[in-house]
Amino acid sequence: MIKVGFVGWRGMVGSVLMQRMVEESDFALFEPVFFSTSQVGKNGPEILQQKTLLHDAYSTHDLFEMDMILSCQGGTFTEDIYPKLKKMGWHGHWIDAASTLRMTDDAVIVLDPINQKTIDEAYNRGNKTWVGGNCTVSLMLLAIHGLIKENLIQWVSSMTYQAASGAGAQNMRELIIQMGELNSSVKTELADPQSDILKVDQKILSTMHSSSFSTKNFSVPLAGNLIPWIDQDLNDGRSKEEWKGQVESNKILNGSYDPINVDGLCVRIGAMRSHSQALTIKLNKRLNIEEINELIDSGNQWVNLIPNSREYSIKKLSPAAVSGKLDIAVGRVRMLNLEDNIISAFTVGDQLLWGAAEPLRRILRILINKAQSS
Ligand code: HSE
Repeated sequence: MIKVGFVGWRGMVGSVLMQRMVEESDFALFEPVFFSTSQVGKNGPEILQQKTLLHDAYSTHDLFEMDMILSCQGGTFTEDIYPKLKKMGWHGHWIDAASTLRMTDDAVIVLDPINQKTIDEAYNRGNKTWVGGNCTVSLMLLAIHGLIKENLIQWVSSMTYQAASGAGAQNMRELIIQMGELNSSVKTELADPQSDILKVDQKILSTMHSSSFSTKNFSVPLAGNLIPWIDQDLNDGRSKEEWKGQVESNKILNGSYDPINVDGLCVRIGAMRSHSQALTIKLNKRLNIEEINELIDSGNQWVNLIPNSREYSIKKLSPAAVSGKLDIAVGRVRMLNLEDNIISAFTVGDQLLWGAAEPLRRILRILINKAQSS
């Protein structure tokens, strides 16, 4: 039976992945081996009523025995272990959530509903490295899949509203802690419906600015605020998150579809785990709004086209409506009053599902199927 090693399965993305793999009965297809960086020798998760033991994630000897390794352990682990295994002559498949290897020639960025063809061709060439894409990139491409398929997009500007989960589990906790600290600072005023709202606002602001406000992870307040920069400063005016939009999108599309120009600003907001993006799309052809809606709706089975009305938009097109689901909600589709063939769309998708765990779960299954049928 094919042996698949899991590293980083207990973290946030790893846990969502495990949950999805149980839901889809993936564990029946191979022998899972669980690795740990800190709990070696202890009990691992129970899989199909079988107990498992935790192996040492730093033991290249143990990892070498795996046919496939799926890592959600993060970039530092990848940087350390991947080259060592390659040097040892390991020929297994490496599946990774971290961005470290994404843009290397060895790696395919996996988003199979869009680049199955690229995956198949790379597999046949002997490719062994498969990396999940940046969350906003994967979620955006799935949202506009129907337009991509017809090569209709000249450029797209994505202005993002990214959830705390993209920054990590500790950041999600910090967001809620910040909310609590803000709330506590005006408890008395809130209890009195007649209290002066400007005084409440003033107190909230001074709580945010106080040195005791919890900002260890975000370094600034996110609750009641926003952060207009995500990831490193590339010192050319762009953030690394913004740079990824263009390069990763086109690496995914390459070989299947025409390239498209992608750019925009990436912003962190106080949502928990679903990323939203306001898209401005320049089409290279004149279409009417019904045709555009039809194309978007037929992009793939996960797109959920939300009618462009107030009622539907506020109820169905939000992180609160989408979180925990595989749906890619797309709404606010209309012709913009700017120049010809420019449309708007607003899309929301779960950052931990299609934005992280799901493409990895699916490539594992694809590779298992290929290995079993060869
Ligand atoms: N970089 C993303 C974010 C998450 O910070 O939201 C991972 O793709």
